[in-house]
Amino acid sequence: MRVLVIGRGGREHALVWKLAQSPRVDRLFCAPGNAGTAMQAENVPIEFTPNDFDRLIRFAKKERVGLVVIGPEEPLAHGLTDAMQKERLRVFGPTKNAAQLEASKVFAKNLMRQADVPTAEFRTFDHPQPARLYIESREYPLVVKADGLAAGKGVIVCSTRQEALNAIDRIMIREEFGAAVGRQVVVEKRLEGQELSLFSLVSGRTILPLPPTQDHKAVYDGDQGPNTGGMGAYCPAPIATPELLQQIEEQVLVPTVSAMKHVRMSFKGLLFTGLMLTSQGPRVLEYNVRFGDPETQPLLMRLKSDLLDLLEAVVDETLGEIDESRIEWDPRPAVCVVLCSQGYPGPYVKGRVIQGLEDVGRMTDVQVFHAGTRREGDVILTDGGRVLGVTALGDTLADAKRRAYEAVSRISFLGMHYRKDIADKALLPPPAPPPPTPPALEAL
Ligand code: AMP
Ligand code: GLY
Repeated sequence: MRVLVIGRGGREHALVWKLAQSPRVDRLFCAPGNAGTAMQAENVPIEFTPNDFDRLIRFAKKERVGLVVIGPEEPLAHGLTDAMQKERLRVFGPTKNAAQLEASKVFAKNLMRQADVPTAEFRTFDHPQPARLYIESREYPLVVKADGLAAGKGVIVCSTRQEALNAIDRIMIREEFGAAVGRQVVVEKRLEGQELSLFSLVSGRTILPLPPTQDHKAVYDGDQGPNTGGMGAYCPAPIATPELLQQIEEQVLVPTVSAMKHVRMSFKGLLFTGLMLTSQGPRVLEYNVRFGDPETQPLLMRLKSDLLDLLEAVVDETLGEIDESRIEWDPRPAVCVVLCSQGYPGPYVKGRVIQGLEDVGRMTDVQVFHAGTRREGDVILTDGGRVLGVTALGDTLADAKRRAYEAVSRISFLGMHYRKDIADKALLPPPAPPPPTPPALEAL
């Protein structure tokens, strides 16, 4: 079968790398891909743009592609699945309607409310003034979210009331994330706890959760600094015990999937639930309608079964026939460390020469997934904010971390930065709570 993967990031390189191992894949394309995907697939120089599906569709038909796998959220939100299905192409990825779970935070929160899915207390607004009044009346820290897709930047986690008021201005008045994106906002209670990324294959009524992973959103060690697309991940996440996963399946996954069916937007594809594990139980922070990045990198490093079988079972609605216990996972954990360009997540520099990739290529059970890279002659250059995802398996999580950082130490490019503490949440005891303020001082 011929398979076309759409996208150009670390997630797509991991998908391509894994699909290339399938004995049933005889030609693999990636549009537009990066220097990494070019090692296992044929890169096709077609960029997705919201008003031009035709070039991708024509390419897929001309090459008799048997399965299209859409990596990023943007084409899904714009209805590339629907357009391709109309042309009788087989597509892995939800329809435009179902993709609203990610593309509209207002839609997602209303669905959670309807389906009684545990999430942060919230209100939605389409005018700034009532949003401000609501913020003034809250006694706890808030998070303000622009409704539409904003490349992960439209969520503002606030510590003070003033920050939340400023967030309303930024989203609704100054329209920093775009006019349509900021037409509505969600204002919700800020939750505390560890985050968990849980991916499930979903088709019809069948839900097949994959091993749990944990991302690291903030740019600096110790979760400091602004949020990024993700600075590193590990799989499995030991915090997600079988009991917790069972609870999430019952309280979150089943009601979400049935509610989508009920509103005639049946979900077919990969449902990513971003959860906060609070002291009161798991709460949904967000849904995504695609594989996560970088979580997919350590996840697929551990998958031994054929990924094509799983993706096709979703598309053909035969997922229910797959025996979960027959899906083979490497028992060893995997850790992925993301190497970033100088300046990221702000404006960053591109075009720097990357060194050390061949050296790391000789290490066993280490895979460097490319994100923002391109080849120019014999050299590989940086070409994005997140550049590489250095991923390693190890006998234990500590060992996987050590091996990932060993590989990282062999790679360099000017201005490269990365977090040094990926997986520490699962390896180190939690930090002691701050000592209580003595009553005498409080009185002062
Ligand atoms: P979202 O796109 O909704 O997942 O938000 C992106 C990131 O913002 C999440 O991964 C969290 O780190 C943070 N976040 C979102 N909602 C909340 C919340 N209610 N409380 C605390 N942090 C949040
Ligand atoms: N790593 C989070 C995401 O893919 O959205």
